[in-house]
Order: sequence, then structure tokens, then C-alpha cells
Amino acid sequence: MKITSFDHYKDVYKHSIEQPEEFWAGIADTFVWRKKWDKVLNWNFKEPNIKWFEGAKLNITESCLDRHLDTIGDKAAIIWEPNDPSEDHRIITYRQLYEKVCQFANVLKNNGAKKGDRICIYMPMVPELAIALLACARIGAIHSVVFGGFSAQSIADRIQDAECNIVITSDGSFRGNKEVPLKSIIDDALVRCPSVKRVIVLTRTRTPVAMIKGRDVWWEDEIRKVETQGGKVCEAEEMDAEDMLFILYTSGSTGKPKGVVHTCGGYMVYTGFTFDTTFQYQPEEIYFCTADIGWITGHSYIVYGPLSQGATSLMFEGIPTYPSPGRLWDIVDKYKVNILYTAPTAIRSLMSFGDDPLKQKDLSSLTKLGSVGEPINEEAWHWFDEKIGHGNCPIVDTWWQTENGGHMISAIAGVTPLKPSYAGLPLPGVQPVLVDEKGAIIEGNGVSGNLCIKFPWPGMLRTTYGDHERCRQTYFATYPDLYFTGDGCLRDDEGYYRITGRVDDVLNVSGHRIGTAEVENAINMHSTVVESAVVGYPHDIKGQGVYAFVVCPNQHGDDELTRKDIMMTVARIIGAIAKPDKIQFVTGLPKTRSGKIMRRILRKIAEGDTSNLGDISTLLDPAVVEEIKAGAL
Ligand code: PRX
Repeated sequence: MKITSFDHYKDVYKHSIEQPEEFWAGIADTFVWRKKWDKVLNWNFKEPNIKWFEGAKLNITESCLDRHLDTIGDKAAIIWEPNDPSEDHRIITYRQLYEKVCQFANVLKNNGAKKGDRICIYMPMVPELAIALLACARIGAIHSVVFGGFSAQSIADRIQDAECNIVITSDGSFRGNKEVPLKSIIDDALVRCPSVKRVIVLTRTRTPVAMIKGRDVWWEDEIRKVETQGGKVCEAEEMDAEDMLFILYTSGSTGKPKGVVHTCGGYMVYTGFTFDTTFQYQPEEIYFCTADIGWITGHSYIVYGPLSQGATSLMFEGIPTYPSPGRLWDIVDKYKVNILYTAPTAIRSLMSFGDDPLKQKDLSSLTKLGSVGEPINEEAWHWFDEKIGHGNCPIVDTWWQTENGGHMISAIAGVTPLKPSYAGLPLPGVQPVLVDEKGAIIEGNGVSGNLCIKFPWPGMLRTTYGDHERCRQTYFATYPDLYFTGDGCLRDDEGYYRITGRVDDVLNVSGHRIGTAEVENAINMHSTVVESAVVGYPHDIKGQGVYAFVVCPNQHGDDELTRKDIMMTVARIIGAIAKPDKIQFVTGLPKTRSGKIMRRILRKIAEGDTSNLGDISTLLDPAVVEEIKAGAL
């Protein structure tokens, strides 16, 4: 849907709130269905029980691939830029993508995959990753992608939770000047995963790998087999709108990561609609999202959203600073990128290299910019606007979450007004509310509170895999009849929303969501650690850094080595992305008499703001605070 003016947005928004079923049915009509729905929406937030497009039959790949064959079959669906700029890039048209997806879907079938199976995908950012997702969807298998930066332990936890029977991986991945041995990490994980019967391994780095007889097969060999069977066609499995499409694990404030479940119909409609609306995508535009498909942004806005809309989606294997901090600008220049969608962390990091990397880079093709994943500070916003957009490109600051499936609060490029550091206004169909501590809805403008959503949208999570009660507890129990986001938010005098960050114990480090409890558990695994408390602190590049207070009485006297050992432990248990930036050894943690850690105090100390720590008289041992203050890093 193209929204042509601010007034048009207001009309569409009003309609979407007053007649949500009519509104979403109109949007859903623009996708391919085998059978239309009997009912658009059935819901309650109590259980919760949310059903969109009940009774409808579809396969999402028919909207992403089949429907484009006759119209834009020769258009580039994916442009792939390798990690090493001297390696050849790849362009895959819609027709080629369709054939590759069908072929690999047949490979999956040959290897025993069936509708409803869970398949874990742990791969580098190569086109075969997108092909693997779509092939799973083609046959009705549920994919569970694990980001390439997670450890064997984290992969094993996710595979066990979802009881996956197949893993798709590659020998290794290239990330900047590093090579990550993905298959070997999978081998370590699989020691603990008896449900996995088959591992399909793509060749990427030519890293030597162990291939276990009866379990491991090469992607290329399997493709050759289906080629001789003439397998460029694979009939799409007919799915119910509410059948699961995928699981994606994400961190919360307690326990292990949860498997957020998205379903076929609603997710397709929501990602397609928001992609088209937010970016106002035009058919000839080259769109580049720098996220990794291991995260929700990559699922929704590299793969499903752009492809259902027939867009050209640029996929980049490497990192923005390799081989030089001008790499993203080289890519924009090389492919004449029109829409660039990236994260504040990347912007801040590139900003720190000054203007030199921008010299001789032609960025004039850019018409729209996007930001996602964390609050964007004004300095980064203005740099992005001036140096990259040359003042000509609207910046859409898209606020949303893994659980939301797609954009929730965001400017619409070129249509709704922009305010630096504000996500802006809700997209059509999204009904945000702010609540106070007691759960009362705060009316009016110029107010702050906890951000909730009071009405369902098609892309929302339906459950957390294998544990519906956890879904209810986490998102629907804090405030009755509301979905609670976990974010704090300000609504200014004109009704524009500004996300102020998490109000729970979840950190956002370089746009990666990390639970403090998870990091603490990992630190506590280290043999000399008695207990620990982890908080976030403002970090110039990462947005938030990880600050760990660690009680470690019997360490061997070499603080630096113990710190490194703890880091290594965290990297082993979770992955390198969760490594603490600072570790302070303390003799005790500030606790209340009932044994609760007073994180508020630790947060202030980590932020370097020790002037007013508030009331500490209720602490079991107030003296510990002085010690921690004195030793702050
Ligand atoms: O705190 C919000 C922040 O990222 C959280 C969601 O993280 P995740 O599920 O990993 O999804 C990230 C990509 C969609 C939110 O609860 N967040 C996300 N986008 C923004 C944001 N904070 C401020 N502004 C944003 N645009």
C-alpha cells in the first residue's frame, strides 16, 4: 500500500483502528492464498489466543517466489556481496531463486524432512541461507535460525528446546579477517542433541571438517542428486494460516532464551505490508539491509518482507569495517543502493572513523535511510542524515521487536514527519498505549510510561515454543489485556513516540538483545566465581556495555587472567557477543535483607553516577557499597 501524504496516513490509520478486520483483509488480499480465510481475527490477550486469517490456506513461498515468475522472473531477487571484495558477487533472479529453493526443498525431503519438523539453521550470510529458510517454508518445516555468533552450548539449548531433527550449516564462515568453524561448533553442540539425525553442510570456507557417516552430508552432493532426479520443481505444501512458520530464540529478563513463534499467514501479511509501507519501496529500487539473517530483522526485512513485495534485496556477508571502514559506502556506490537500513551501532562505529572513509564514495543513489534495533542518539542521527543522506533522505527509525514480527512505530519514508531520536507515529493497525507502574493507561500527550500494545496485529508472536504459559507470563500478565513490550517510552506533545530503552533486565548491546540473568549464569559457571551481578552502562559505540560485578574470593591473584578466564567462560556458554566489557571484583553484592540484589545501585555505579545512590539503609551490609564505589572501573 502506498500512503501518499501525511493526511492520507491519518485517514488510513483511523480506518485501521476503527475497522481493523476490514483493513487487514484489504491488505491480505494483495497476497497469494490457496483459500481465503473464514474469519479475519479471533483473539484474547488473557490466554493469550490470537488467530489471524483462520481457515485460510497458503504457502508463504508462493507470495515470495511463484507469483513473481511471470512478471519479474528476471529481476534480481538477491544481490550478494561477499566478505572479501575481490571475490565475485552474485546476482540471483526471482526465477533462479525459485529453482534453487525448489531444489533444496527436494534435498530436505530426500533427507527425511516433513511438514512440522523443526530444522536448525546455523550458516554464514550467503544466499544459501535465504534459500534454506525458504526451502523449509516450501515444505512446511519450521526453521529455527541460530545467529553465527552463538556458542555450541547456546545452539544445543535451542536444538533441544525445539527438538530439531535436521541441522543446516556450512564448513565455516568469513567475518572480516576471521574464519569461524561453524561445522565444528555444530559438532560440539550435537554431542548433546540426540534428536538430530541429519546435518547438511554447505561448502564456503574449505575449512577441514569431520563428516560423520550416516549423519552428515554435503549440500552440493545432495543438490546433484536432485538434479539427476530433475528436481527443479517442488510443489509447495499447503499450510493453515496459523501453522508455525518459524521459531526464533530471544533473550528475556529471566531464564534461558525463549523460542518466539511466528505463523504463516499473519507474518507474511505483516512483513510484506510494513516493508512496503515504511520504505515506500518502488519497483526499481535496490534495497540493502545490513542485518544478519540470524536475527529477526534479517528474517523479516532481508528475506520475507522484501521478497513478497518483489524487491531486490542486497545481502552482505561481511562486516562494515572490513577491509576498511568505507566498506558499506563502497557497497552503496557499487550497486547504486537506494534504500539503506542499518543499526545505530554501525552508524556510531563508522562515524568514529571521521570523514576519510567517505571520500570519493558516490552515495547519490540513496533516497531513503532506516535505523533499527536500539535508540539512535541525536549525534548519530544527524551524522547519518548529513554525511550519508546529504540531507535528502528521510530516516525511518523503526521500533519493533522479535516478538512483533515487523515494524510497529516508525516514520513512513517521505510521508510522515521526522524527529531525530523519535521512532515517531504508530504504523496503521498498531495501537500503542503508555501505562504507569500500576498498569493504568496514561492518556494525553507529553507523558512517559511503559509501552504496551492494546490490540493484536497480524505479525505478533502466538506463543513461546513448548511453553505457552511462559508467553502469557512474559508478555500478557504484567498488565491485564495488554501486550507488554518491556520498553520505556515517551509520547511528546504532538503524540510522537520516543523509545527510552528497556525497563527490565534485558540489555541491548550493539543492537543484540542479551538477558543479564543469562550472562550472570554464564559467569557463575566459572570455577572460582561465587556470585555475580550484571548491569548495562552507556557505551559510546555499542549503545550499552556489559558491566559485571563478580564475587570471586579464591582466585589466584592475577586479576587480569581471571578476567580473561571469565570472558572465555561467557564466550563458551553464550557466545562472544555476551562477553562483559568490564569486570569488577567485589567482596559482596549490595543485597536487601531478603537477599535481593539492589541492581539500581549497581547500575548507578556502572554509569559512574555515584553522587546520589538513594536510600541504602535497607541493605544487609551498606558498607559494601563504599567498597564497590571505590573500586569502580
Ligand atoms: O528495546 C527495544 C530495542 O530493541 C528491543 C527488541 O530487540 P530485538 O527483539 O532483538 O529486535 C531488534 C530488532 C527489531 C526493543 O524492545 N529497539 C528496537 N528497535 C528500536 C529499539 N529501541 C529504540 N529504537 C528503535 N528503533
